Amino acid sequence: MSAFSDAVNRQIGYEFAAAQQYIAIAVYYDSETLPELAGHFYRQALEERNHAMMIVQYLLDSDETVVIPGVEAPQTSFSDPVAPVALALAQEKRVTDQIVELVKLAREDGELVGEQFLHWFLQEQREEVASMTELLAVVERGRDNLLHVEEYLARQSGGESPLEVGAPPAAGGAL
Ligand SMILES: [Fe+2]
Ligand SMILES: [Fe+2]
Repeated sequence: MSAFSDAVNRQIGYEFAAAQQYIAIAVYYDSETLPELAGHFYRQALEERNHAMMIVQYLLDSDETVVIPGVEAPQTSFSDPVAPVALALAQEKRVTDQIVELVKLAREDGELVGEQFLHWFLQEQREEVASMTELLAVVERGRDNLLHVEEYLARQSGGESPLEVGAPPAAGGAL
C-alpha cells in the first residue's frame, strides 16, 4: 500500500472515533434532558460516520485495500454542559489538521485524484470548525440557562447545506 493510501486508511479510524465521541456527547445531553443539544450531536455523529464511509468508497474506487479499524473509547463524562462542545471544537480542529496533512501528502506523492477527493473535506472542516465555534459561544453565554441554547438550536434546524449536495458518495449509501 502506498504511504498515501495508508494515511487515508488511518483517517477512516479518526472519522469513526469522531462519530463515537459525538454519540457519547449526544447521550450525555440526552441524560441531562437537553433534547436539542442531544439531537444536534446525534446528527453530527451520523455525519462523521458518513465521512468514514466516503473514504471507504474512495479507496474501493481506487482499487486499494480498505482496513476498517477499531477505535479508542470516547470521553463519556463531562464536568459541565459547556465541556462537550469545547471538546467537539478541539476535535474538529484536530481533524482539520489531519486532512491538511493528507492533502500535503497527496501533493508530495503526486496523488492528484486523491487530492481532489480531499478538497470537499477541507470545505467541510471549514464549515464544521466555524459552526462549532459558534455553538461554543452560544453555550458559554447560555450556561446559566441552557433553555436559551435549546431555543437557539430549535430555530436553526432545517435546510440542507450546499456541502451535503456536493458530498462524495459513501460506501453503502450515506445515512
Ligand atoms: Fe469528519
Ligand atoms: Fe466533523
